[in-house]
Amino acid sequence: MHCDLVDMLQCPSCGGTLFWQVQRVERHQILEGEARCTNCSATYPVKDGIGIFLTPDLPREDLWEAVDSHLTRFLKERPDIEEKLLGSPLQSLSPADQHFRGMVLAERGLYREAEEAFAQASVGIYTDEYRRGSRAQIDFVIHRLKHRFLGGEGLVVDLASGMCTLVDAILKETSGIRTVISDFSPRVLRRQKAYYRWCGLADRTEFLAFDVRKMPFKNNSISALTTYVGLQNIQDGANETVKEVARVLSGELLAVCLFHPEHDVETRECLRSYGLEEFAFEASALDALSRAGLDARVENAIAVRALPTPKSRLIEGAGIDAFPLKETVLEWCTVVVKRKQ
Ligand SMILES: C[S@@+](CC[C@H](N)C(=O)[O-])C[C@H]1O[C@@H](n2cnc3c(N)ncnc32)[C@H](O)[C@@H]1O
Repeated sequence: MHCDLVDMLQCPSCGGTLFWQVQRVERHQILEGEARCTNCSATYPVKDGIGIFLTPDLPREDLWEAVDSHLTRFLKERPDIEEKLLGSPLQSLSPADQHFRGMVLAERGLYREAEEAFAQASVGIYTDEYRRGSRAQIDFVIHRLKHRFLGGEGLVVDLASGMCTLVDAILKETSGIRTVISDFSPRVLRRQKAYYRWCGLADRTEFLAFDVRKMPFKNNSISALTTYVGLQNIQDGANETVKEVARVLSGELLAVCLFHPEHDVETRECLRSYGLEEFAFEASALDALSRAGLDARVENAIAVRALPTPKSRLIEGAGIDAFPLKETVLEWCTVVVKRKQ
């Protein structure tokens, strides 16, 4: 965590000022240390360069923790399946299994092989138009960021970064932009940190674990926020999320979104049961942002045919995405969000 982030941070619980005790710094990076809130005394560690700003009050379903440990345990118990998953020619595996192979390889630090498995998997998991729609949003965001920073240096905070689909392109396709990679799963951050060290991009990445519903940033401190389907993965949190975005944002949020058709009642019910309904549909997403005093505009909308993602053939019950439930037409777009004037 770069020392210059310290000035942007506050206690995510109560908004209090943080008192920092730094144990290890190398080349302006805080590697080990602790921030203590001078108001509520909550403490937030920095471990191996990752600032952990999680608060105990918010429920947190860390799927990375769950999937990774399930996968590791499963493969340990079933060496025959591990042999098939890792030893078979990549092309012979189903797309979901190619993806799981990528996850296992990345966990083991075999990044080149993992990249190959993920690239191959994506072709089989998603329709061509779905992938083109996604890529068009990434291009749109990068173009906008380059314009914003005039091709020079800038800091972007990415929310719910997960597998870093967008961050990865920002880092690899621009030269001056630094990104704060964030997620409420420290596990996924540790994994991405190791990957970007391997890529030689570590000096343009910062890692903060926090919940989007309680961000550790000061008011008006972030001029460029991004997220790639991140808002849409936050359970039961639309109201808190939009309030937090409105509080920290001084410039623009570029939120890549994938919206479901408004009339799809079955999907709506299912998303509601997961607490994911509000950001899954364009009308309610824009409404939530507007209620928080934000001006939100849909840009670059592209309708794409989408199919349910395939299941694993080797690991019973394992799949990729929970949605769509059936063949449908989804809308990829980028929601450009600013404070209302
Ligand atoms: C499927 S990913 C979104 C895709 C990702 N942005 C990418 O570029 O590949 C969703 C991520 O959101 C994270 N997440 C879910 N709820 C969150 C929350 N309330 N605060 C922060 N991260 C959250 C999950 O851990 C997961 O990594």
